[in-house]
Amino acid sequence: MAANMTDKSRVLIFDTTLRDGEQSPGATMTHDEKLEIAQALDEMGVDIIEAGFPIASEGDFEAVSDIAKNAKNSVICGLARANYKDIDRCWEAVKHAPRARIHTFIGTSPSHRGITNLDQDQMIERIADTVNHARNLCEDVQWSAMDAIRTERDYLCRVVETAIKAGATTINIPDTVGYTLPQESAEIISMLLEKVPGADEIIFATHCHNDLGMATANALAAVAAGARQIECTINGLGERAGNTALEEVVMAMKVRRDLMPYTTGIDTTKIMNLSRRVSQVSGFPVQFNKAIVGKNAFLHESGIHQDGVLKNVETFEIMKPADIGITETNIAMGKHSGRAALRSKLKDLGFDMAENQLNDVFVRFKALADRKKEIYDEDLIALMSDSAANTGNDYLQVKWLRVVCGSDGQEAELKMLVDGVEKSATCAGDGPVDACFKAVKAIYPTKAKLKVYSVQAVTQGTDAQATVSVRMEEDGRIVTGSAADTDTILASVKAYVGALNRLRVRSQKTAPDADMKTVSYKL
Ligand code: KIV
Ligand code: ZN
Repeated sequence: MAANMTDKSRVLIFDTTLRDGEQSPGATMTHDEKLEIAQALDEMGVDIIEAGFPIASEGDFEAVSDIAKNAKNSVICGLARANYKDIDRCWEAVKHAPRARIHTFIGTSPSHRGITNLDQDQMIERIADTVNHARNLCEDVQWSAMDAIRTERDYLCRVVETAIKAGATTINIPDTVGYTLPQESAEIISMLLEKVPGADEIIFATHCHNDLGMATANALAAVAAGARQIECTINGLGERAGNTALEEVVMAMKVRRDLMPYTTGIDTTKIMNLSRRVSQVSGFPVQFNKAIVGKNAFLHESGIHQDGVLKNVETFEIMKPADIGITETNIAMGKHSGRAALRSKLKDLGFDMAENQLNDVFVRFKALADRKKEIYDEDLIALMSDSAANTGNDYLQVKWLRVVCGSDGQEAELKMLVDGVEKSATCAGDGPVDACFKAVKAIYPTKAKLKVYSVQAVTQGTDAQATVSVRMEEDGRIVTGSAADTDTILASVKAYVGALNRLRVRSQKTAPDADMKTVSYKL
């Protein structure tokens, strides 16, 4: 275990961005992106990284085992249902890590027992058997009572006792459907600590979902009652309303040490860059007013606030932007800025790259600088995101686009490379974006459906870049695509084509999302 657990004030941070976070529809990350995020989580001081669900697909298995092979300090954990096949597969993936963990779970509430077709006693047997099996493979075993909050209290005590006796070293009490409130979250942990034999020998974890907007409060309440592991994701990414946000619980304990006298191993100055990166690779924008990492979290718009902050920052600020790694100055770059300046600026923004990787980015930067006078941090972040999402090696690539629009009608003329072969199409449409998307479909017929299309200006001004995000669905698989450009229509086409590339990769590598849902419930 990374932390010294004789220190009773130490709270372990278990990050599940790559498992529960990636489970949110559309938040698919590529293999390399997962590796990169895992490395950043490790460097940030996350104690345990839940890297994926190895049995779910070949892609998940490979990602977990490669993350395990590259781990430095963090424990690498994989998820497994309560059966030998899942657990063995999980162990095969995580065993390469210097410190590995198997996380096995079963739904213990009445409705989950109904799904698994086990009565209370049969479930007890299953827990004892599978936890014992996992423990024979790995000395670090976490067991979760899925939907613990809606499990009968006496039965919850029984299942937790069973898992402890069978060898679990961490017991997780998930609020799977985001139903609990802080008082209840605390009561359940206190009850388990008081009633279950052996409870003082293991670590209790809290795993909260945010359906009622309570995930952070519930996790902190559980810690105050004795839980010593918080399960969370960057930006609160996760199914439905998401999981507890790592940045929120960590900063809450840092800012309010007077009320929450606990420590974590997190280097909080790495939060902002990681938040941006997770948002980019997952395709999930961070809402502007999101606590800690939202664009507006440190902005003071009103006159009274600005005046107060200028006189004394503590008037309206409870933490400093630098605490989460926001650089104080946002000095614009421009077409005269050289490679060294760009490289150093990107490093400040969390993009540390080798000389050869910089070449492509520098070309894109110069092209942008020709069209936009001042280039701000946000522009560079958008540019980096665009370079990562739309590479020169993609199966589908946008080569050239001309759009005619106005009151007489709209028409798009498009040239694309499909597996290196140039193809073109001209289509009319209901607006310029519609005309463009029709042209893409004329070149590359697809039955994928566009579910979300959104445009955001990166900075102010009419020459601002637009970031376009799309979400598309085909056969139950959901992906996102994003692109940035000073030309909104071109950004739209690139985002659309980027999503089609992702769908193609996913259909080759993984089972559809629908299957993933079934596997996570069936025994
Ligand atoms: O929310 C949940 O119950 C889970 C479990 C698999 C731990 O994610
Ligand atoms: Zn969950």
